[in-house]
Amino acid sequence: MNKKMKILTYGCQMNVADSERMAGQLQTIGYEYVDDFDAADLILINTCCVRESAEDRVYGKIGELKHLKRQNPKLIIGITGCMAQKEGESLIRRAPHIDFVLGTGRTSELIRVVQSLEEVPSHIVDTSDVNGSEGESFSQYPAFSPAQNVFAEFVPIMYGCNNFCTYCIVPYVRGRERSRLPEDIINEIKAAVKSGIVEVTLLGQNVNSYGKDHKLANFAELLTEVDKIEGLRRLRFMTSHPKDLSDELIAAIRTGKHICEHIHLPVQYGSDPILKKMNRVYTVDQYRRLVQRIRQNIPNVSLTTDLIVGFPGETDDTFNETLDFIREIKFDAAYTFIYSKRSGTPAAEFDNQVDDAIKHERLKKLMDVQNEISLAINEQLDSQVFEVLVEGASKTDETIYTGRTRTNKLVLFKHSEEQPGDFINVKVTQPQTWLLKGERV
Ligand code: SAH
Ligand code: SF4
Ligand code: F3S
Repeated sequence: MNKKMKILTYGCQMNVADSERMAGQLQTIGYEYVDDFDAADLILINTCCVRESAEDRVYGKIGELKHLKRQNPKLIIGITGCMAQKEGESLIRRAPHIDFVLGTGRTSELIRVVQSLEEVPSHIVDTSDVNGSEGESFSQYPAFSPAQNVFAEFVPIMYGCNNFCTYCIVPYVRGRERSRLPEDIINEIKAAVKSGIVEVTLLGQNVNSYGKDHKLANFAELLTEVDKIEGLRRLRFMTSHPKDLSDELIAAIRTGKHICEHIHLPVQYGSDPILKKMNRVYTVDQYRRLVQRIRQNIPNVSLTTDLIVGFPGETDDTFNETLDFIREIKFDAAYTFIYSKRSGTPAAEFDNQVDDAIKHERLKKLMDVQNEISLAINEQLDSQVFEVLVEGASKTDETIYTGRTRTNKLVLFKHSEEQPGDFINVKVTQPQTWLLKGERV
């Protein structure tokens, strides 16, 4: 009988991609995927620590697993990902029902660790090399997604981050930038497309600095090469750091046939003194001019962003400047976060930390302003027809299916015979803040 694995993924798309590649590794030693925790012989929790709330969720989940281990002492529980890297063996001290903790750079050891625990139960902690070789180890194994009808895939093109924004834990738990080889990426995508994948999203903490280490190709060149892969219908990428989004890249997006007109371009804040303290290394005006260049060159591009409120030193003035800035730029959508102190990062030690109540008040205000903008932009799309890649049934209603436009807008429509992975045309009939309702034409 096959052994069963359950994998739970927190955090960003990078973790989703890593989970699929870990599942691919475990398949080669006889594990098949189950949805049900109770049926699993192996449970992996792939974790995130970007904000305290993300960590709290993981601790909660780890606590819930304790009774499963009591029921089935042979169950293997492993913690991977960013929080595993950050917390290491303290996770096992806190929750001894965990069998292993594997850091972000040590996932190449996953098979060895699991096999050793199958033979002799013990505790294994390995966070020894944050700059380890995820890329190379993952390249040998095809990604495996538990979802049915898989038509889209996340493909990491680089690992780590060199930017050290002062609020951010990622460089500490993901190590320095390492770019995968262009031929490995291209071969992986060719194989994925052969197996039915029609949409690929290239992933990195800052894709614009792809290739600065090996110098075999820069990001614009890589994107152009991937765009040529026969059978690929949509090509996406994230995340772009505003400090080095080049004109060459803008040109590549404009001319690429399958490269989608959507750029996720986190601005984080709209006031220079705070941007400086965040170490984002661009000014509000540089960002503004970058957006102008993008919009002049890529017609109908959609722009999304990330924003943080409550960074140390924020005042009513810097916050109002930020509100004005988002009113000016008019992002299609924004992911808004309350600043969360991450110990070990410079900003955690900064003076003038902002009071919690004020943070929440400002978050609400920011979301209200952005929601109004998102709705106004979407209302302009009323009655327009978009090519939509069908994703599947919506979470709440099986008769309603969802899909996305090239600009990454979520579209809802009544299901007839569409299948996930189909391309259909949908006319927008009811634009809303976060999605477009429409009908197939
Ligand atoms: N590399 C990407 C994203 C990294 S994390 C980038 O540079 O954009 C995703 C988002 O989480 C960030 O864009 C930021 O807005 C947010 N974030 C990171 N650290 C945070 C913290 N300490 N508190 C609140 N939000 C944070
Ligand atoms: Fe974090 Fe900044 Fe790196 Fe993004 S670019 S991962 S926000 S340090
Ligand atoms: Fe979280 Fe790690 Fe991604 S901290 S946001 S899972 S890189």
